Amino acid sequence: MSETAFTPRVFSGIQPSGNLHLGNYLGALKRFVDWQAKDMETIYCMVDLHAITVWQDPKDLQQSTRELCAGFIAAGLDPESSILINQSQVPEHAQLAWIFNCIARMGWMQRMTQWKDKAGKNQQNASLGLFAYPALMAADILVYHATHVPVGEDQKQHLELTRDIAIKFNHDYGVNFFPETEPVIEGAATRVMSLRDGSKKMSKSDASDASRINMTDDADAIAKKIRKAKTDPEGLPSEVKGLEERPEARNLINIYAALAEQSVDQVLADVGGKQFSEFKPMLAELAVEKLAPISTEMARLMNDQAEIDKILTRGAERARAITAPILRQTYEIVGMVQPVEL
Ligand code: AMP
Ligand code: TRP
Repeated sequence: MSETAFTPRVFSGIQPSGNLHLGNYLGALKRFVDWQAKDMETIYCMVDLHAITVWQDPKDLQQSTRELCAGFIAAGLDPESSILINQSQVPEHAQLAWIFNCIARMGWMQRMTQWKDKAGKNQQNASLGLFAYPALMAADILVYHATHVPVGEDQKQHLELTRDIAIKFNHDYGVNFFPETEPVIEGAATRVMSLRDGSKKMSKSDASDASRINMTDDADAIAKKIRKAKTDPEGLPSEVKGLEERPEARNLINIYAALAEQSVDQVLADVGGKQFSEFKPMLAELAVEKLAPISTEMARLMNDQAEIDKILTRGAERARAITAPILRQTYEIVGMVQPVEL
């Protein structure tokens, strides 16, 4: 099989671990919607099996999974055009992950910066699942033979590992079965930073709620967080080089550009020379305009949880039509005796 034999297919996932935020939206979700508009099969996943690599309260996990699904739809994903799934409902993800656990090497996993960050100083006490996390992620992608994976900058290393796993599997078994997936890291906001500290990425787990704009924040909360965002005393430059060494200013400009769907150069041509006291209300207005309808729609969808559950059930059914044959072929390649019809 040559590489060109793989049909283009888009896959990506987000963890249902609460606090879906502006970084998730600009780095991932908004891009998912762009890919849906292209003439390609798109599959988007709430990765609940990944979420439990660190402790999740069961009730919160359920709530966050449904809320994430509502967020997907509210942001513009159409459950007919895209396949929307909850990871644990498509068992082939976990099944292929086991095979990949036997392909990936300990040393590869130990180099992952997300592992090092999340396990912290006490690696001995981290879950085995947290260590194996990237092998499950590779399985998510490769169980669809997905070729394109839109993500934020922080996932680049995991996608390189996904390629390494595909290459080693193909090499070890002498096949060309898994594609070498392309990471798609695009747009002005592939790494949205904390509003309180321009050196830290905006994150679900930051203790300070003021550090992030949550997709469930209302217009007042959004405006207030932007007004209070950390900045420096300088005005805004009219060229990108004037943003060097100014991470907080750079971050707000990137956010503006991504929300307005303009380039950073275009934005600076308009706002260069302004003070933050003038720019922040512009940013707040734009953010409210783009985000408030999404949070309103999320809240509306959350009123009908039975409908969300049906969408995910239907998504899993469609997904399994793709994943079951790929898993079966994988098992055959590996030499596992498969059931026959009785
Ligand atoms: P997670 O919430 O860790 O499951 O991330 C889901 C998606 O959002 C991934 O594609 C991440 O790369 C992306 N993402 C998370 N945080 C940020 C951020 N601060 N800036 C841009 N993208 C992000
Ligand atoms: N690891 C990703 C994150 O934390 C989530 C994820 C899991 C994912 N499986 C994936 C992203 C497959 C893209 C493709 O952001």
